[in-house]
Amino acid sequence: MLAKVEKAFKELLACFQTAKLYGIVHPMFQKSLDKSYAAFEDVLALRQEMIIGIVGDELAFEKEIFFDLGKLLRPAILYLKERNIERFAFYRGLSKDELGKFVGVLVGPKEYFKADPQMLLAHLGVKNISIGKLKINDQKDNDFFTGGQLELYNSSVDRVSQVLSSVLNSEKIDPLGLKFSLNNIIDGLGTQRQELLKLITVKRYDVEIYVHMLNVSIFAMYFSSRLGFEKDDILDIGVAALFHDIGKLYISRKTLHKPDKLSEQEFSRIKSHTVLGAEFMFEYVDSLGILPVVVSFEHHLKYDSSGYPRLPLLRKQHIVSSIVAICDVYDALSQRRGYKQDYSPDVVYNIMNKDKGSSFDPELLDKFFRVMGFWPIGSVVALNDGSIALVRDENESDIRRPKIEIVSPVDKKRLVDLTQETALSIQRYLNPWKEGKEYLSH
Ligand SMILES: [Fe+2]
Ligand SMILES: [Fe+2]
Repeated sequence: MLAKVEKAFKELLACFQTAKLYGIVHPMFQKSLDKSYAAFEDVLALRQEMIIGIVGDELAFEKEIFFDLGKLLRPAILYLKERNIERFAFYRGLSKDELGKFVGVLVGPKEYFKADPQMLLAHLGVKNISIGKLKINDQKDNDFFTGGQLELYNSSVDRVSQVLSSVLNSEKIDPLGLKFSLNNIIDGLGTQRQELLKLITVKRYDVEIYVHMLNVSIFAMYFSSRLGFEKDDILDIGVAALFHDIGKLYISRKTLHKPDKLSEQEFSRIKSHTVLGAEFMFEYVDSLGILPVVVSFEHHLKYDSSGYPRLPLLRKQHIVSSIVAICDVYDALSQRRGYKQDYSPDVVYNIMNKDKGSSFDPELLDKFFRVMGFWPIGSVVALNDGSIALVRDENESDIRRPKIEIVSPVDKKRLVDLTQETALSIQRYLNPWKEGKEYLSH
């Protein structure tokens, strides 16, 4: 029984993901709805009703909790919780049309759920489904926004690292699920960009290569959205960026804990992560397209083609590879912050600008810093009048004068647009692990 319930819920979520990506009129959705409905019929043939609840971060059916499923589907659970849905009941007699309408409501605008979603369902003629809150006293409902973002980010890391290790082991992957995770991140970038970009800055202590790949993917999606790419393309760019170093993952697993200095042989082995990665991704052309192959192959080629792999014919980097190359180096340099060397944003900016025209497409690089700001969102900075501020938003017109929030001294606490108040300026960056640490809680 439990397996059937689990299957029905999995199919429902797959259907929901399809609807989110393709809309509910797409044939892909109809196909997915058919599958999902068949699974529900299976369950409802055996019992009058099927009630599923979200308890904490897990899915529960009667007294059973689907832990594994819960972990895998955490982004979806979060999505539902954000819409105040903690409980679903499906009753015998359910029609496919009802199920389809229900999914349509689920993927609808958030405003639907501010009103009574049950009323909406009733209005649509859906009688055999009810949704709403669990009547258990609810935990930590406060500050859900920030917690939700952090959790979304973490669960996307989980989800994405699962996919990455599947690729390394030549296992099957769920391309739709992957795009769903990335899609969640893009949605976050659209509405809660400041929160999300701040998280990336703050999460630097985690230097896992997985996190690097996810960071590069997020930067690339954000950057390409600001460049004006369409959402479909942004997702493809995000996927390609995500896998850019997949070959390195394979190499570094085998050459763990190497002494600092690499021999020439080891260095050329590291360089081969581009070709190796392209080979890995070539196995997934059917589900992920050719872009991951291209980006994996070209991301160290450099703008002037002087990088590697060395090619017999001069070949220009694909624009997506150029985008990823910028995000890749930016993330790698920024991650050195807080370790031995103190790579403050101005150092990163200078290093990258030295390679403008050689490593990086000059126009793209300029645009990148206009979009990211000279001082990344979330940075702790000291001002010329001695006060301390957090960077809140960039100003494209002057990347060195963002919008900030003064946090110390406390009596001066306020928001300031530095392009408006020209007497104030940023003097230096405070390392978030050292002197800047105490201000981060603001
Ligand atoms: Fe690389
Ligand atoms: Fe990289």
